Amino acid sequence: MINVGIVGGSGYTGAELIRWLLAHPHVNIVSATSRSYVDVRIDKVYPNLSGTRDICYSALDINQLQKCDVVFFTTPHGVSQTITPDLLNLGVKVIDLSADFRIRNVDVWKSWYGFEHSAPDLIPLAVYGLPEFNGERIREADLIACPGCYPTSIQLGLLPLLRSQCLDTSDIVVNASSGVSGAGRIAKLANIYSEVGDSYRAYGADGHRHLPEVVQGLNDISGDSIGVTFVPHLLPINRGIHATIFANLTDLDLDLHNLYATVFKDKPFVSILPFGEHPQTRNVRGSNHCQIGLHRPFGGRKAVILVVIDNLVKGASGQAIQCMNLMFKFPETCGLNSTASVP
Ligand SMILES: NC(=O)c1ccc[n+]([C@@H]2O[C@H](COP(=O)([O-])OP(=O)(O)OC[C@H]3O[C@@H](n4cnc5c(N)ncnc54)[C@H](OP(=O)(O)O)[C@@H]3O)[C@@H](O)[C@H]2O)c1
Repeated sequence: MINVGIVGGSGYTGAELIRWLLAHPHVNIVSATSRSYVDVRIDKVYPNLSGTRDICYSALDINQLQKCDVVFFTTPHGVSQTITPDLLNLGVKVIDLSADFRIRNVDVWKSWYGFEHSAPDLIPLAVYGLPEFNGERIREADLIACPGCYPTSIQLGLLPLLRSQCLDTSDIVVNASSGVSGAGRIAKLANIYSEVGDSYRAYGADGHRHLPEVVQGLNDISGDSIGVTFVPHLLPINRGIHATIFANLTDLDLDLHNLYATVFKDKPFVSILPFGEHPQTRNVRGSNHCQIGLHRPFGGRKAVILVVIDNLVKGASGQAIQCMNLMFKFPETCGLNSTASVP
């Protein structure tokens, strides 16, 4: 058994993490922090967790976190970079779901997040937690920077093509949509039901914070400098990301389906649908699975890649547990095996 702490356990990704960790056979949750719910039982805040272990939220206490083998941060950006240095010094591994250690260039970090990074020395130690790309490095890591939800869908959708070098990397277009839980649990006017329901809109078309992460990740996969346009959209559903990716092929004889099926053959959480099928968010909701549909309209040079994940699972907490499994030498799928519940 390993001892696990969660900083920010009362938010959506924190609660989702607790839901999965309670069912994990090798995990003992020793601390779940929240400033708003100190001493409140987790099932008072999330009644879906009732009937599980009696755990109360607690204030953040480094002495308590010191007892952990690994601490997850499910906090807004700016929090983990202030505490992670102490935890690493105490020999505690860190899996950070926020953006704090994702961006390697501190100037790029500052330009998108608006303040100086307080632990720049740790950034080179952080391993980007996309297991389908970085599995071997994740196994050896002490600090994981989990990918954002949009970047997970986009990188999984493009990984085989980028590696194949059969792609014009100068002009990739991504139109991706997220459910409202992607914005977290904090009440915001723009995200209340009557503002979001029965409507659909783009946001951040001039630049979204996930863009520098997407560019860095695609560059890493391809070894090239990628040109990408990324426009996020808000979907009036609770969970789910649907990314539609448009990319120009440079090899018209490429067997797109065979390429994707081969690259993801041994990746337990990525399914390639039969060529020409359309994935749906409902088929991955509540699961750690990613489904990819592949199209080439009229057999032309444009590849259309459709990717669905659950933003709170493969896009966040499930993927973080997948990383934990690799770091602690558990089977990669341990505790993550369930499929989506439909309808
Ligand atoms: N939602 C998604 O789909 C998703 C996907 C991938 C990654 N992420 C990232 O994961 C992180 C958490 O997202 P979320 O959606 O779960 O957010 P959330 O629902 O707003 O939850 C944030 C959590 O952090 C705690 N918190 C807030 N400020 C804090 C501070 N200064 N110090 C300590 N704790 C603090 C909050 O509890 P108290 O205020 O009670 O302390 C709460 O438990 C974010 O960085 C987000 O970008 C989210």
